[in-house]
Amino acid sequence: MLSYQHAYHAGNLADLHKHALLASAMEYLTRKDKPLSYLETHAGRGLYRLDGAEARKTGEAAAGIERALAEGWLPADHPLMRALHAIRATRGPDSYPGSPLIAAHFLRPDDRAYLAELHPAEHDALWQISGFATLHQRDGFEMAQAVCPPNPRRGMLLIDPSFEVKTDYADIPRHIAKIVRKWNVGVIALWYPILTDERHLPMTRALMADHPDALSSEVRFPPARPGHAMVGSGMWILNAPWGLADEARSLETIFAERA
Ligand SMILES: C[S@@+](CC[C@H](N)C(=O)[O-])C[C@H]1O[C@@H](n2cnc3c(N)ncnc32)[C@H](O)[C@@H]1O
Repeated sequence: MLSYQHAYHAGNLADLHKHALLASAMEYLTRKDKPLSYLETHAGRGLYRLDGAEARKTGEAAAGIERALAEGWLPADHPLMRALHAIRATRGPDSYPGSPLIAAHFLRPDDRAYLAELHPAEHDALWQISGFATLHQRDGFEMAQAVCPPNPRRGMLLIDPSFEVKTDYADIPRHIAKIVRKWNVGVIALWYPILTDERHLPMTRALMADHPDALSSEVRFPPARPGHAMVGSGMWILNAPWGLADEARSLETIFAERA
């Protein structure tokens, strides 16, 4: 039974880190005049309302994207800022795009997108706005195994689990190893929370041992509520596009100085 709903957390500081790297990666990948595939295992509903009850209840977007916008953390020409402003121009000033819509902002007519979302209500909401993609209501890792290697073969996979299942941390390196065996040229990005009890550490150590050349970016921020276990955000990226390491270092500096 899935209980996580991203509407309570959309636009928080973890989303800012993850979505800034996603938008930058998509911007780099779509500079080349060759079609690509975009895959996502845990897509969410794709579009959120920051004036909705969920966002207001937690205040995470106010402390995240809204604060970052007010304080100018990212330059106006940053790929995430460009995507956000374009999406807000059509979806409304209080909207916040999830990763599928951010990726879609960069996709061109010959590119393909494959999205998985298991939760029925989240899947139905995503269905309303994902005409650009092939949508699966199934386990995201199953979808990735079925679709990889995708056609076109160039492209990116985002893995953004809610980590509700206790075994996720132990299983993810094995899932990624199977995907890489089928699709060794894909850009594979995994988001994970940095937790006070360091539950994520065996997973990140296993991934780095398997793929020492992968890019790892971690940022820290105050917990959303006193005692909350998440104190930072991590992105692990295999086959990162050229330029993404510089973007990761720049984001780490911004978070260290401002968050
Ligand atoms: C962190 S949210 C995704 C947020 C989204 N990637 C974004 O950045 O906008 C994780 C989503 O995964 C979904 N989910 C959980 N387990 C899943 C599974 N096994 N396969 C596919 N989706 C799953 C949840 O319902 C939730 O909507």
